[in-house]
Amino acid sequence: MNIQDYIRDVQDFPTEGILFKDITPLLNNSEARKLMLEKLYNKCKNLKIDKVVGIESRGFFFGMALADQLNAGFVPLRKKGKLPYSTVSQKYGLEYGEDELEMHTDAIQQGDNVLLHDDVLATGGTAKAACDLIQSKGGKIVQCNFIMKLDFLKGEEKLVPHHIEAVLNY
Ligand code: PRP
Ligand code: MG
Repeated sequence: MNIQDYIRDVQDFPTEGILFKDITPLLNNSEARKLMLEKLYNKCKNLKIDKVVGIESRGFFFGMALADQLNAGFVPLRKKGKLPYSTVSQKYGLEYGEDELEMHTDAIQQGDNVLLHDDVLATGGTAKAACDLIQSKGGKIVQCNFIMKLDFLKGEEKLVPHHIEAVLNY
């Protein structure tokens, strides 16, 4: 099975000029999904992780599954206005537009070893905002873990000095 066959390219979504990497074919096939989870887990299984942080919304699918495998807590970072309790928030620029991420103030404890997970590392703005939120609460980012990294957008540069792992590179 070639896992890349389950990532669909959609041209001009959500705006003209963007080549969108659609993971829904991967989610829709149980073998491909399990293989992806295994590949993601292989990249972090030897780490001691207290919390997996997943970024709304596409970081939730595998983020929660990784937390299960790692016997870690799961922390959802959500877009502005969705979390009910007290929050810390961080604005960020996207490849297409601007947004804001929030995290519950009690989600991360000082000294927690954190694995950040999302589907795509593109410009890195989203993941950088997530790292800033985690660190603002004293979390130690052990690994930033992605399904895929879009190398031409140089998101990795924004995440220095964090350790980045991705199953696929484009
Ligand atoms: C996409 C993708 C990543 C982020 C990557 O999420 O799922 O989270 O953009 O972009 P960046 O590296 O340039 O910041 P999006 O904001 O489209 O929301 P979604 O996950 O809810 O679809
Ligand atoms: Mg996303």
